[in-house]
Amino acid sequence: MSVKKTVCLVTGASSGIGHAIAQYLQQQPNTEVIVTARRKERLEALAAHHTTIIPGDITEPAFQDNLISYIWERYGYCDYLFNCAGNIETGTIEEINIDRVTAMLRLNIEATFRLTYAILKKFKEQEYGHIVNLSSVLGTKVRATAGAYAASKYAIEALSEALRMELTNSAIKITCIEPGLVMTELHNSWEVHPKDSMNIPHPLSTADIVAVVKFIMEQPAHVNIPKLMILPKGHNI
Ligand SMILES: NC(=O)c1ccc[n+]([C@@H]2O[C@H](COP(=O)([O-])OP(=O)(O)OC[C@H]3O[C@@H](n4cnc5c(N)ncnc54)[C@H](OP(=O)(O)O)[C@@H]3O)[C@@H](O)[C@H]2O)c1
Repeated sequence: MSVKKTVCLVTGASSGIGHAIAQYLQQQPNTEVIVTARRKERLEALAAHHTTIIPGDITEPAFQDNLISYIWERYGYCDYLFNCAGNIETGTIEEINIDRVTAMLRLNIEATFRLTYAILKKFKEQEYGHIVNLSSVLGTKVRATAGAYAASKYAIEALSEALRMELTNSAIKITCIEPGLVMTELHNSWEVHPKDSMNIPHPLSTADIVAVVKFIMEQPAHVNIPKLMILPKGHNI
């Protein structure tokens, strides 16, 4: 008897949290992983059996349509969407680059909202599915100079909470993971890394986030985890 495969779409899979989640999923039995981000050569590091690499810019609606068409034409269904593509722009009133901020909002909010709704329409047709959003501890509180980034994550939290209510009487789940500082490439361009400016001796690793993903995925159908915060000890926020 053939076993139904678990089909997972991971955005932001070329680095950091998305990359680590994709690697974890690749190791799971009967799992098909579709990975996407702009940097094709980085995605190729994930080349393996049961993995499809689809490079592109997630802020382009036509690219999102292609991703969804590919999955439903090839598999006819999808089990999980991991919304990991994201960026951070911060700065003081004097220094903030508003064009970079609006580009971040287009990625963190607009692209994530668009993909979430498009996939949810499909999930409603198939009557199951799980969306996991990479929100942030800054989706629950703000920090000076990080208002726009926090706002983008508050937006994800608000949408997810409303969708959870809308999906109450269905098998479809939506979860926000709310990490504190994780060591990835997200802060690579910062002059001073937040672990130093915020004095966080032991930031989270992507493996810590993967452990949370594993926990979320292991829950039985009747258990819903709308949000899960994970902070490094010593992160005073
Ligand atoms: N690191 C942290 O401390 C932390 C804490 C809380 C929440 N988060 C959230 O976790 C998520 C992942 O962040 P990370 O830390 O893993 O950062 P990262 O290492 O910089 O990864 C970001 C990913 O987003 C992709 N991406 C950026 N712009 C894109 C675009 N226009 N189209 C398609 N893909 C795009 C990047 O790929 P390409 O450049 O190849 O396109 C990359 O794969 C983000 O939403 C972030 O806000 C991170």
